[in-house]
Amino acid sequence: MSKGLRIMTKKIFFFCTLLIAAVLVEANAFELVAPAVNCSLNDGSVMVIGIGAKGSEGVAEWDGGKAEFKISNSRFNTTIKLAPGKHKVKFTVGGETVDAEWNIGGKENLFTYHEEVASNSCTSCHDPKNPPSEMEDVSSICYECHDSFLSREHVHGPVRMGMCAAGHSPHGSVNEKFLRVPPLQLCTFCHEGPVKSDHPKSSDPCISCHNPHGSAKKFHIK
Ligand code: HEC
Ligand code: HEC
Ligand code: HEC
Ligand code: HEC
Repeated sequence: MSKGLRIMTKKIFFFCTLLIAAVLVEANAFELVAPAVNCSLNDGSVMVIGIGAKGSEGVAEWDGGKAEFKISNSRFNTTIKLAPGKHKVKFTVGGETVDAEWNIGGKENLFTYHEEVASNSCTSCHDPKNPPSEMEDVSSICYECHDSFLSREHVHGPVRMGMCAAGHSPHGSVNEKFLRVPPLQLCTFCHEGPVKSDHPKSSDPCISCHNPHGSAKKFHIK
């Protein structure tokens, strides 16, 4: 195994461990899943998605406003109404708090919801009977609406493994294409960078030459 691949394998292992850890804490801990804790939003009707202990009561408080919600399933969503401008919103669920800072109508770090989430169609991806931790085969869910990449001649590793949610945040994000992190950071999360010394010298983003899902050419060259 080459050094680069060894490092990459380690990182993928680390990434999977993180995912599993996130799934394990799900049972009790309250966590905000969307939108990002610090972002701008176009609309003051903010759909809040989170996880928390089944049956617990939740409270959201912001400059004078207050909303209560019940977590009937470990996966929940609630919509709170905020006026234009900046707000600090404090969520309290079962003694745990999460602080968010949302700028309604702001431009910086603008969060966009995935269309299916914006239209409240949770069940187009989630089986209401199963918690998200028991979601199987994420890519086949995505491919119900999006064209599959698997027929491309050279399919990128994580895509081949069905790890769509490793690159994309399924509910939405502040990054283009709902990426978890900006494109350059995304590639260097798993790759040290190109390994070969004859790799084109360029400061262009990796995706200007490589297709992140795969292509007809070797190394997923566009
Ligand atoms: C486009 C598909 C899709 C839609 C629509 C969707 N989800 Fe999800 N959701 C996922 C996937 C995939 C995961 C698991 C992958 C991940 O986030 O790591 C997930 C995970 C979750 C989690 C757990 C997150 C975590 O970090 O453990 C919660 C809570 C959740 N979804 C709530 C919702 C709610 C509420 C809605 C509707 C408002 C919704 N989802 C709509 C795809 C979707
Ligand atoms: C029930 C249908 C449906 C499912 C399932 C679904 N999506 Fe989507 N997705 C849409 C629609 C509709 C749009 C907006 C129109 C478009 O850009 O195709 C969209 C847009 C996107 C975009 C932005 C595309 C762009 O060009 O800006 C990404 C990325 C995306 N989805 C990823 C995913 C991932 C990852 C999954 C699986 C976790 C998934 N989607 C599951 C319907 C779906
Ligand atoms: C989640 C981890 C992960 C991320 C993020 C990731 N890759 Fe990969 N990449 C892999 C894996 C796994 C392989 C497959 C290694 C194998 O099959 O030998 C791979 C293979 C490749 C290859 C082919 C290498 C070869 O020698 O055949 C290229 C090129 C590549 N990735 C570019 C990128 C670019 C560009 C990005 C950012 C858009 C990116 N990768 C993001 C995990 C990742
Ligand atoms: C100017 C276009 C261009 C850019 C920008 C670019 N690449 Fe490449 N990359 C290529 C080409 C062309 C090859 C195929 C080289 C060959 O045939 O040996 C390649 C090959 C690779 C390979 C496989 C061979 C190797 O050197 O390990 C990896 C991995 C890779 N690129 C990763 C990246 C990453 C990560 C980035 C961003 C930091 C990036 N590339 C940016 C053009 C580019």
